[in-house]
Amino acid sequence: MLTVNNVSVQFGKRVLFDEVNAQFKKGNTYGIIGANGAGKSTFLKVLSGEIEPTTGNVHLEHGKRMSVLTQDHNAFDNYTVLDTVIMGNQHLYEIQKELDQLYANPDPTDKEVDRMGELQEKFEEMNGWNAESDAAILLSNLGVSEDMHYMKMGDLESKIKVRVLLAQALFGNPDVLIMDEPTNDLDFYTISWLEDFLANYDNTVIVVSHDRHFLDAVSTHTVDIDYGKLNFYTGNYSFWYNASQLKARQRAQQNKKAEERKKELEDFIRRFSANVAKSKQATARKKMIEKLNIDDVKPSSRRYPGIIFQPEREAGDQIFETENLSKTIDDDLLFDKVDINLSKGNKVALISKDSRAITAFYEIVTGNMQPDSGSYRWGVTTTQAYLPSDNSKFFQEDISLVDWLRQFAKTDEEREDVYLRGFLGKMLFSGDEALKSVKVLSGGEKVRAMMSKMMMQRANILLLDEPTNHLDLESIQALNNALINFPGTVIFTTRDHAFAQTVANRIIEITPKGTIDRLMTFDEYLSDKKVKELREKMYQ
Ligand SMILES: Nc1ncnc2c1ncn2[C@@H]1O[C@H](COP(=O)(O)OP(=O)(O)OP(=O)(O)O)[C@@H](O)[C@H]1O
Ligand SMILES: [Mg+2]
Repeated sequence: MLTVNNVSVQFGKRVLFDEVNAQFKKGNTYGIIGANGAGKSTFLKVLSGEIEPTTGNVHLEHGKRMSVLTQDHNAFDNYTVLDTVIMGNQHLYEIQKELDQLYANPDPTDKEVDRMGELQEKFEEMNGWNAESDAAILLSNLGVSEDMHYMKMGDLESKIKVRVLLAQALFGNPDVLIMDEPTNDLDFYTISWLEDFLANYDNTVIVVSHDRHFLDAVSTHTVDIDYGKLNFYTGNYSFWYNASQLKARQRAQQNKKAEERKKELEDFIRRFSANVAKSKQATARKKMIEKLNIDDVKPSSRRYPGIIFQPEREAGDQIFETENLSKTIDDDLLFDKVDINLSKGNKVALISKDSRAITAFYEIVTGNMQPDSGSYRWGVTTTQAYLPSDNSKFFQEDISLVDWLRQFAKTDEEREDVYLRGFLGKMLFSGDEALKSVKVLSGGEKVRAMMSKMMMQRANILLLDEPTNHLDLESIQALNNALINFPGTVIFTTRDHAFAQTVANRIIEITPKGTIDRLMTFDEYLSDKKVKELREKMYQ
């Protein structure tokens, strides 16, 4: 069991956590939710010991092992794949390395022989002789083939790398497994595998995610971080969401009689329990809800950012054209023969089976990468604002948010503090929040900062590569509405189905054999028989 005692965390004047007490028990999967910047990542870092709380402590039961899915994809670049996985159990890995050194010595001293015996015993206790084969099995389950097991991490493509890091976290069935937004970097196949794995996992899992589907598939408990506290609910995300909606409705109708309110709650619980039973086939472990504490559900402090994209001027008729674009990365042909001609007002959902194809396309048409063949042309009256999927290079400097945004101002008026702070305020950075260093921003806060940059550019074309990945639900909704209302042209990619359906009026799929291009909604595209046949042929 993992216990949190009186933990408080404070950054400057801001109290992020105030006297938090909590217990995380064996067999449960805790889905941690909360607004961008609420403190989820910080809380996980306190649990894993990466940062010290201002007061209080975290206690892991004696003899238990904790494992963390690392966020830094390059941390193990100099190690082989197999070693990287085994390093998931640091203690075991160290014993193995020391033993290897001792074995390599042809003439050991008595002391060294003693040490060898001691280590061998420990190694055996930890089932060390099976470590390599266990690691190999785990890797193969995750689709990392055997020819890669002895390769250096640095030589792997990123899609495979994240799977190895996942195998590292899961290696040796840790008693407590901690993961921060694991699905962001995973492909669809691996996400499904992870959902099944976690649903059947018998130890403690603590996972932060904004992915509703994933949370529903894996979590037995939901922990909402809000007002500097942790609020625990027995049940998955949908349960928490519906319960909090119901609570908010009831609160809005204060005068409703207590009797009526109680009945409504009971009905809700009955309906919800039925749903859980139905979805049981999908997730083996999800148990019936034993104790529903719906009465404790509080209204949340979440707020909607004010996202409005206003082009400086309208674009002419020439918008954007590509001719015969192609790109190969790591010997994989990502797309070929891409011929696109956009018209004014097109809102294009750009899709592909391979997310590398999408990112390469955006990088090429924004001038950050060279195509292998072909060309592209933006209309002379167009201006583009681009949200890349990886924004890390924008946040390297230790400067305040206000100074950061000032770099993108075009006029003297825009360079004024008042103007910049007004802008940041709309993106929920008010007061001292606008003065903090961009280096400490949370994942979602970075995307919000990028949004304010894009809003200030006042472009008439928006390009967005997975904008919804790090955002909380309120921000996704605000962005969704902003794109629906945007008078210009949009090219975007998202895994959020509802988002794609409500924004796109044209779907373009880029494949190794050319494009599929349809003026229809996302749902129409997915259910179109001809498109389906075409898709099968074009990825062969
Ligand atoms: N060292 C620091 N100094 C000052 N503020 C910090 C520091 N580290 C984090 N913060 C702030 O604390 C808040 C919580 O950050 P955290 O990364 O934990 O959020 P989060 O809940 O994980 O958000 P997201 O959903 O966007 O990932 C943010 O507002 C962040 O800017
Ligand atoms: Mg975070």
